[in-house]
Amino acid sequence: MKKLVLILTALVVSSSLIAQTVEEKVENLLQKMTLEEKIGQMTQFTSSGDVTGPTLRGNVEKEVKAGNVGSLFNAFKADYTRKLQKMAVEETRLGIPLLFGYDVIHGHRTIFPIPLGEASSFDLDAMEEAARIAAIEASAEGIHWTFAPMVDVSRDPRWGRVMEGAGEDTYYNNLVAKARVRGFQGDDLSKENTILACAKHFLAYGAPIAGRDYNTVDMSLQTLHEVYLPPFKATVDAGVETFMTSFNEINGTPSTANPYLFKDILRDQWGFEGMVVTDYTAINELVPHGTAKDLAQAGVQALKAGIDMDMEGAVFLETLKESVEKGDVTEEEINVAVRRILTLKHKLGLFEDPYRYSDTEREERLVLCDEHKEKARDFARKSIVLLKNENQVLPLKLENKPKIAAIGPLVKSKKDVLGAWKAKGSPKDAKSLFEGLKGATRGKAELLYAQGCKLDGDDTSGFAEAIEVANQSDVIILAIGEARTISGEAKSRSDITIPGVQTELLAELKKTGKPVVVVLMNGRPLALEKEDELADAFLETWHLGTMAGPAIADVIFGKYNPAGKLPMTFPRNVGQVPIYYNAKNTGRPFDPENPSGYKSNYLDVPNSPLYAFGYGLSYTTFEYGEITLSSNTTDGAPITASIEVTNTGDYDGEEVVQMYIQDIIGKSTRPLKELKGFEKIFLKKGETKTVTFTIEKEALTYFRWDMSEGVEAGEFNVFIGTSSDQVKAASFTLTKDYEVGKKNYNPIQSK
Ligand code: NOJ
Repeated sequence: MKKLVLILTALVVSSSLIAQTVEEKVENLLQKMTLEEKIGQMTQFTSSGDVTGPTLRGNVEKEVKAGNVGSLFNAFKADYTRKLQKMAVEETRLGIPLLFGYDVIHGHRTIFPIPLGEASSFDLDAMEEAARIAAIEASAEGIHWTFAPMVDVSRDPRWGRVMEGAGEDTYYNNLVAKARVRGFQGDDLSKENTILACAKHFLAYGAPIAGRDYNTVDMSLQTLHEVYLPPFKATVDAGVETFMTSFNEINGTPSTANPYLFKDILRDQWGFEGMVVTDYTAINELVPHGTAKDLAQAGVQALKAGIDMDMEGAVFLETLKESVEKGDVTEEEINVAVRRILTLKHKLGLFEDPYRYSDTEREERLVLCDEHKEKARDFARKSIVLLKNENQVLPLKLENKPKIAAIGPLVKSKKDVLGAWKAKGSPKDAKSLFEGLKGATRGKAELLYAQGCKLDGDDTSGFAEAIEVANQSDVIILAIGEARTISGEAKSRSDITIPGVQTELLAELKKTGKPVVVVLMNGRPLALEKEDELADAFLETWHLGTMAGPAIADVIFGKYNPAGKLPMTFPRNVGQVPIYYNAKNTGRPFDPENPSGYKSNYLDVPNSPLYAFGYGLSYTTFEYGEITLSSNTTDGAPITASIEVTNTGDYDGEEVVQMYIQDIIGKSTRPLKELKGFEKIFLKKGETKTVTFTIEKEALTYFRWDMSEGVEAGEFNVFIGTSSDQVKAASFTLTKDYEVGKKNYNPIQSK
């Protein structure tokens, strides 16, 4: 009998252990932890890999063994992450596993196009899939957490990090943000091939004054809420598990010390329950920002703002204990952060098996596998934007065995095609444009080569050879643009033309009278007026990743009909920047058809961009019919806007049909146009399809000057077309006002 009771008790005890919730497990562990161990969990250090700032602690392995580290970043390879994990698990008192983070931005080893390039595809499924593949490769090497997606709306191409986002439009950024989070995190975080995503950089990092990285942000609350916040909200809706602070200040408060952002908005209003990490040494930077007199005060400000983990700065590690002792922060405030960190480690299954991600077998089988490379090639083709195609120079025909001159400093480059933030992508695995051309023309064309010039500098000594090669050829393919090293973090430019003598080389080649196909490789919108004039055909290929060469060749020779559209406006010159399609009308709008003085215009350049948001050609042509609305009035019930699109050219092709809305009169002024829908359709030549968009009242609401959200009755324009500046128009009337509700968006009331 006694035995039976014992057995039953044991069963009850063990089943209660099994039934323990994550919350209970976290709480149990927390009880056992010393204050030092807790602060250790809140500390993240870089390993020796890709480092983007000063490293403050040399020997991370020693720190791990000392229990001073909750997370490491920039460590990769299954063997190495396993070795580090073993130190944490076997050589620290409580054996809490480490969280490995890394900037897996557009692929891990199989590199996809830079995110701005991917965004040109307007293909959300492809973006989700690229993130999924990146997660599969990274997780096999032991990585649990990517610092992506960057969802900073950016309207200023001087800022080097525009390459890392989805461009200038908020609505589009929302959709891309969700797709990327879904891709990284998958549907179940406890699977060994899903990783934590991180929405960054909260907030408005993409709007530094003058486009200079890390610079001050000064902006109306209305614009913050309407333009910059929604993509972050979208990541929360998609279940993102982590957020990163931004380096910048906004209106006088550095983000890393801003409770309005992390407590009021992120947690209280949006209900985010995950973890917040700082950007690299961002707590330390509160001192030069000038809100903290020393690191101790900086640490207190960050913790009180709702920050959980300190990236690289060691401020929490070095100051928080004393701040608790002095009563500047409480241990309970620290517990809150530690709970979030431990919860994530549980969600990833690290307490059950700390080594489940570091898997040499999966690493061997999956990293850079053929299937991933094929997907990267396909996505690279989808990301190419055809900017110009005079006399249908493209696609090039191979019937008569043409002589093709492949010229330019980027034709043979295998490193620049990888772009900034290339993670563990390696030039040796990448295919250059020249290799792509060789593969596509083998036995069908003669390929000649000359470098012509370097990416930068004023050396024109290679021009003569390039001209000679061009003279011997039927057509010239010229690859020019930016090195991968001049976009990305800390890579702002005040001059956004093509560097060095590359444009001069183009001008010289043009003089040969041979058709010139310019293949542009770059990380940001550039000012391309001269090149646009000189090129016969012009392809924007961004930095397309591992399979850039074959992908560009697919487009050049017509194996793939380009369908990309620009997610950012291309200015005529840098003086127009910031320039974006969803601008306001002003009280003195300039009409180029009817110019007159004292209007809002420049004396020396038109207001219009060189290439508008949403612009991109195809080898075929599309004709748009007129817009049909299901009703010309609505009390708020959804209405539809339909349009017929016909492929009127000689090729089958895809088109991104775009719908924009304008609220003509509002309590607050409204943009001239705002993207509210798009659909990518495939049309065989001669085929017509009807595309229908549903307009819901939610698409009409906006933030007013008093920070209330709603929409007023009145007239609205609907525009549908092939780009933001080539559209058909119709209009409807909303007969009733709608209020979403007055929200507490007042930072003064922040806790
Ligand atoms: C600084 C960058 O701003 C951030 O985006 C990145 O994730 C970290 N460095 C880590 O590399």
